[in-house]
Amino acid sequence: MNSGELLYSGKAKSIYAAEGDDEAIMVFRDDITAFDGGKKDTLSRKGSFNSRVSGFLFDYLGKAGIKTHFVEMVNDTSMRVRRLEMIPLEVIVRNIAAGSLVRNYPFREGTPLSPPIIVMDYKDDARHDPMLNDDIILALGLVNADELETIRQMARKINDLLIALFDEVGITLVDFKIEFGRYNGEIYLGDEISMDSMRLWDTSTGESLDKDVYRFEKGDVMDVYRRVAEKILD
Ligand code: C5P
Repeated sequence: MNSGELLYSGKAKSIYAAEGDDEAIMVFRDDITAFDGGKKDTLSRKGSFNSRVSGFLFDYLGKAGIKTHFVEMVNDTSMRVRRLEMIPLEVIVRNIAAGSLVRNYPFREGTPLSPPIIVMDYKDDARHDPMLNDDIILALGLVNADELETIRQMARKINDLLIALFDEVGITLVDFKIEFGRYNGEIYLGDEISMDSMRLWDTSTGESLDKDVYRFEKGDVMDVYRRVAEKILD
């Protein structure tokens, strides 16, 4: 299935050409990285957990009216996607203070953020993904003002939908990162939504159920990814 030409290889996913020019095959590899690629490992079944959770979440969001690149699962580690012209923005939605927000600003970890905070970073590992503001985004020509507003509205709606879904399985959605692209002149949700890109806490115990387990060596990260996948997919 991945016999098409390799179009792009990132830190944890590879994109291959599909039969039609407007589609691609996204393959989730078993590679895991943190700290802009400074920490790296390969963990068996990681690609499968993230791919299946991403596919499920894209399908859920699509049914709720969010335009996403997801077309269908091809197998446990691959999905057919619309080929977007990606925008180099990391759109981060935060419901609870954690991670870099706590490191860089005087927030106490665990403080609820109401309304949620939306932050946009410039996707560039070499520059350590610097935080942008609207003026910088527009001056760089990354998107126009209408697109920026659309991205914000979509991010808020995606957040509401994901909070509701995770709440049902006893997981608190602390924050997450999403990426967008253009398809036929419209803004679509692309990339992935997985345990690599969300911060998830067990609602009753506060235990981390995401890549923080790998970043900060808090336990068996694949056991945690498997548990989230089972809660979401079963
Ligand atoms: O590190 P920070 O607190 O800014 O991360 C916020 C959220 O965005 C976390 O859920 C993290 O996993 C995600 N993120 C990501 N990729 C990045 C930076 C952050 O998926 N390059």
